[in-house]
Amino acid sequence: MAILPILLYPDPRLHRVAAPVARVDDSIRTLVRDMAQTMYSAPGVGLAATQVDVHKQVIVIDISPTHDALKVFVNPEIVASRGASDVEEGCLSVPGVYDKVARAQWIRVRALDAEGNAFELDADGLLAVCIQHEMDHLRGKVFVEYLSPLKRRRILTRIRKQERRAG
Ligand code: NI
Repeated sequence: MAILPILLYPDPRLHRVAAPVARVDDSIRTLVRDMAQTMYSAPGVGLAATQVDVHKQVIVIDISPTHDALKVFVNPEIVASRGASDVEEGCLSVPGVYDKVARAQWIRVRALDAEGNAFELDADGLLAVCIQHEMDHLRGKVFVEYLSPLKRRRILTRIRKQERRAG
């Protein structure tokens, strides 16, 4: 297992669109294990392959406080959704920024698991928001891009200051 470097906003590689996985093989399972370790060590509740510069449709999520309920989504699709949620979101690619984004409150997602088996999952609340957030990454979208231009400018200014301080 390995901890992978996480791309930081506004890295342009975060805007690449991930390709569907043709076959869930050992290379995908290794990626899933590395992504899970990277997410747990960050620590975070979700990670998309895009964030570790792998442009394949793979997501890992674990919202449990005990870090023992890993969910893996390969080629995820939302097949139904309803309601409106405004859970505050954060992102490992935009450290220190938390804000609300308009999301569905309930979703039904269809995906493959790490064995390549198809499954459907109904999710609401934080899990539903997390899945929608990570699926956005696969489309090259970072949650701060939903925020107002003013908020986004402030975030970018802060990031540039941090980068200058880091040299
Ligand atoms: Ni994120």
